[in-house]
Amino acid sequence: MSVSSKDFMPRKIPLSFIIVRPATLFDLSEIMRIERQSFREQYPRGLFMMFLDANRETFLVAEYSGQVVGYVMAYIRPDMEGHIMSIAVDPLYRGNGIGRLLMEAVIDRLIKRGARYIGLEVRVSNKGAIKLYEKLGFKKMKIIRGYYSDGEDAYYMMLDLSTWGGKS
Ligand SMILES: CC(C)(COP(=O)(O)OP(=O)(O)OC[C@H]1O[C@@H](n2cnc3c(N)ncnc32)[C@H](O)[C@@H]1OP(=O)(O)O)[C@@H](O)C(=O)NCCC(=O)NCCS
Repeated sequence: MSVSSKDFMPRKIPLSFIIVRPATLFDLSEIMRIERQSFREQYPRGLFMMFLDANRETFLVAEYSGQVVGYVMAYIRPDMEGHIMSIAVDPLYRGNGIGRLLMEAVIDRLIKRGARYIGLEVRVSNKGAIKLYEKLGFKKMKIIRGYYSDGEDAYYMMLDLSTWGGKS
């Protein structure tokens, strides 16, 4: 069967069809597929399994029509910083609001678990992700030089939860 260019076109879908739920072991293959399509470097499967075991409430997937189309991984640090470890949306389904939906869902769960603020690192070149975080209220706090293994710098961004009003 031939692959048509249509297979790579972004798909417009109504956000109301998206279910956000905690990830399970059965989702890991799909999560790792999206990770491969989204990042230059990948986490080993064992790390996903350990993360899932320790952070069941804050490792979420977005599901559309029975298929995993995005995920977000977050945890709480001892100083009560909620930390976003990773977020990615299947390239075919980007631009539908799924990234924002996942972020809002995980922020709500981090608040319920006692987070006082939320932090994350993002490549300084990742304009799309930075825009998404800024729309949610995150602020660039500092640059971390050479944070990534290829030498690229990161912004450390923070969301002050005392001003978190949810959807804008
Ligand atoms: C970043 C990412 C998760 C965004 O997911 P998404 O589902 O496409 O994002 P949304 O549709 O929810 O976008 C919400 C808002 O973020 C901003 N945004 C998201 N992607 C953008 C892009 N590529 N360029 C500019 N703005 C963007 C927009 O302001 C958008 O709102 P709008 O559509 O009303 O303009 C997705 O692009 C992705 O998986 N990228 C690869 C992995 C990655 O870089 N993860 C972040 C690592 S720190």
